This record gives sequence, C-alpha cells and structure tokens, in this order.
Amino acid sequence: MTVVPPYWRSIRHRELKSRIVEGLSAVDTMMFDWSKNEQPLLATSAQHLLSAGGKRFRAALTLLAAQFGDADAPAVIKAATIVELTHLASLQHDDVMDRAHVRRGVPTVNARWGNRIAVRSGDFLLARSAQLAAELGADVILAQRSVLTRLVQGQILELQGPSPEEDALTHYLKVISDKTGSLIALAGRMGAMVAGAHPDIVEVFDTFGETLGLAFQLADDLLDISGNPASSGKRTGTDLRQGVDTLPVLLLRALPPDPHDPADSRLRVLLNGSLHNDRTHQEALELLRGHAAFQQAREYTTREAIKARQMVRELPRCPARTALLDLCQNAATRIA
Ligand code: IPE
Ligand code: IPE
Ligand code: MG
Ligand code: MG
Repeated sequence: MTVVPPYWRSIRHRELKSRIVEGLSAVDTMMFDWSKNEQPLLATSAQHLLSAGGKRFRAALTLLAAQFGDADAPAVIKAATIVELTHLASLQHDDVMDRAHVRRGVPTVNARWGNRIAVRSGDFLLARSAQLAAELGADVILAQRSVLTRLVQGQILELQGPSPEEDALTHYLKVISDKTGSLIALAGRMGAMVAGAHPDIVEVFDTFGETLGLAFQLADDLLDISGNPASSGKRTGTDLRQGVDTLPVLLLRALPPDPHDPADSRLRVLLNGSLHNDRTHQEALELLRGHAAFQQAREYTTREAIKARQMVRELPRCPARTALLDLCQNAATRIA
C-alpha cells in the first residue's frame, strides 16, 4: 500500500511542525490508553482502526487552533483526543451502515468481527470520549453533545434522502455539514477554547471549521469516485453502490441531457438503475469521472476551500495561520 504523508508533514515552519508532530504523538498515546479495556475483544476491536493509521486531520486542527492561545495547556491534548475518538467511533458505525470492507488499508471492524461487535465497540469509543470530555467540564460536554446529535442526524438524513418537494442539493449540503462539518468545526473550536484563546478567535474557528469540513467531505465524495484505494485506503464507488447521490451526480442530474453524447445518455440510464452489479458499477464510475459534472464538482469543492481560506485570514498572522491556509488547500485537493 502506498503511504501518503498526512498534510502536517508539509508544515513549513520547523518549530511549529515539531510541536504538531509531538502533540499528535501524545494524542495517539492517549487514544490507545483511553481505548484499553479488560475485555480483550473490546479493546482489540476498538484499537483495530486506530493502529491502522489515519490522517489525524481533526487532531492536527485542534493542535493548530490551540496555537492561538496557550498551546501547552494540558487540556489541549485531551481535546484533540476527544475529537479523534469521536471520529473513530463514527467511522466504525459508518462502515456498518455502508457495508464497507476496507478502511485505512485494512479490513473494517465489521468485516473482521461482524456488525454487532463493530457497533458495540464504536459505542465504547464514544463512551470513552464522553468520559474524557467530562474531565474538561460542562462547556466541552455541551459542545460534544450537540455535535454527536448533528452527526447522527446527518447520517439519518442521508439514509432517508431528500423528500419529493426538497431541493436535492440543499439536502446534500445539510447532510454533509451535519455529518462532517460539525465535528471538524468542533476540532478547531475546542482547540482554541481550551487553550484560552480570545472568544473572537474561538468564533472564527467555529465558522471556519464548518466550511473547511464541507470542503473536506466534498473532496471525500470526489475520492469515492476517482480515488486510488492504494492511497485512500478505502474502496472506490461505495456511494454509488449505496445509491447515495453526492455532488457530481447531483450536478449531472441538474444538467439537461445531451442527446448527442452517448456517454451522457448511457450514464443517466445507469444512474437510474441499480448499481449492485460489478460491471455496470465500474462502467458508471468511469463515465462519471469523464463527465463535465465531475469537473464542476471539483470546482465547487475548490471554491469552498477558498471560502475557508478567507475565514483563516481573519486570524492574527503567525506560522499556525499559514499552516491553516495550507490545510484548506489540502482538504480540497487531497488524494487520501
Ligand atoms: C473519513 O475521514 C470520513 C469523512 C468524514 C470523510 P478521514 O478522511 O479523516 O479518515 P481518516 O481518519 O484519515 O481515516
Ligand atoms: C461518512 O461519510 C462520514 C462520517 C461522519 C463517518 P462517508 O461514508 O463518505 O465516509 P467514508 O468515505 O466511508 O470514510
Ligand atoms: Mg462510509
Ligand atoms: Mg466517503
């Protein structure tokens, strides 16, 4: 498997980079400590994806946000751990919902131990992250609770699909803000908050994180169509297989059919049918990659990342601000 270095390896400021690397290593240690359990099956299943890797994008964001206050405050590592544990739990639950077999380049928890263990060990990780949040006080518990609600709400909305009178794009954007924007916003907000940054800065992280999270999920949805499993660590085509219309498909449906373009006509037929058959699924993926709607979706994603960058510019100039500007770029153009 090709290993794609996570974005924080490219932080240009040497001192900041070593602080983030050190912080992330402390987060990893804390994640392993907090996912231990006397029941070996519970501990092993909960630590399975943790050991497999992952970008630690949210933890890195928490650590960068903390640079706008006292970055050495002991609560910072805990805040980043809370966010990553919540993320990890949501991945386990999501893989059950998506019937996914591979994540982070290894078999998913559901593929290895079955849905029941995957759900319960995901619950365990959520419980541990809530327990850690309790150590940081009421503000953190409240913030985490509302994010968990939005996360679940977003995934239920996705399962349901838009109602007949609802605009499909509006529905999709609500789904991805809830399921992904909410947690990425929490990552930044908590980092700034527990480091004691000025409330105006905490506020910037809140709105910035929502937009960054949107760009991040839009890019994930593009990767689901055109990504390389060797770098993403996931199988491509899960959204199409599950019948979930993401941005490229929504934009395609909004375009008038082109009767002179056989590829366009064929793709529309395929998208209106079931894509459980491997051959038609693969054909739809290839046609979608070459369709103008896919390019439009890329441009849409880039525009969201540019919006996020504009929000970062409201922060005081410092190496962390530069790293955040790069982070926005990475969120939209990443290959893993
Ligand atoms: C995957 O998140 C789920 C989404 C919200 C898109 P990541 O892309 O951050 O997954 P890991 O943590 O690096 O595996
Ligand atoms: C789910 O989105 C994001 C979560 C909140 C877990 P996806 O279903 O697109 O995430 P991946 O592609 O499986 O990582
Ligand atoms: Mg999924
Ligand atoms: Mg995805």
